[in-house]
Amino acid sequence: MCITDTQSINSSKPEYWEKFYQSGDTGWDIGKPTPVFKNWIKTQKNKLSICILGAGNGWDALHFAELGHRVTAVDFAESAVLNMNITAAKRRLKLNIIHGDIFDLDKLFTNTFDIVLEYTCFCAIDPDRRDDYIRLVNHILNPSGKFVGLLFPTDENLDSDGPPFGVDIDTTLNLFSNYFTVIKKEIPSNSIERRKGREIFVILKKNGN
Ligand SMILES: C[S@@+](CC[C@H](N)C(=O)[O-])C[C@H]1O[C@@H](n2cnc3c(N)ncnc32)[C@H](O)[C@@H]1O
Repeated sequence: MCITDTQSINSSKPEYWEKFYQSGDTGWDIGKPTPVFKNWIKTQKNKLSICILGAGNGWDALHFAELGHRVTAVDFAESAVLNMNITAAKRRLKLNIIHGDIFDLDKLFTNTFDIVLEYTCFCAIDPDRRDDYIRLVNHILNPSGKFVGLLFPTDENLDSDGPPFGVDIDTTLNLFSNYFTVIKKEIPSNSIERRKGREIFVILKKNGN
């Protein structure tokens, strides 16, 4: 991901991201399902309801839908949503694509999803909103739901200019610990080349009510 020239537009606004989609400067987009998530979803015996936050062009969302899972993909950039809709239509896939702000999802969903999936959305939002993000994830997951995420970039400092804003793993898991218990935390061997050693795969279980 390389985002440098947009200080005039705040990255909390959809316009900031829309500009990159329109110019094709989407360095974060790997153009295919994420290998780590492809392996993980293969291990799932049941069909799951999965919500993907800041889904972008939706490669993971589309892949999970192809496998028969019930997918909700959310993004506030118009072009990302358009791209997802076009690809879904081409592949005749059904998924719930929401054009909106993830921070409004609590108005639509409560205790709903088996899984909330995260990849490069947490590092894209304003770090001051990380508590809000975690509260939101807790709110929309069902009582036995799980947060499945690749936390990136773990090698960058929060003080450095973002997005992406650095993700210190201990600090982040400490924030999640108000609502979640860690059931997996590992450095994946199949990260894409440019992110090797710079991301951590986590599965966190929502604490029971
Ligand atoms: C770095 S991109 C990652 C996209 C996708 N997860 C991927 O890996 O290709 C961050 C995405 O989050 C979206 N985003 C950022 N803040 C958001 C918010 N508050 N609500 C909805 N989408 C948001 C942006 O529009 C952008 O598509």
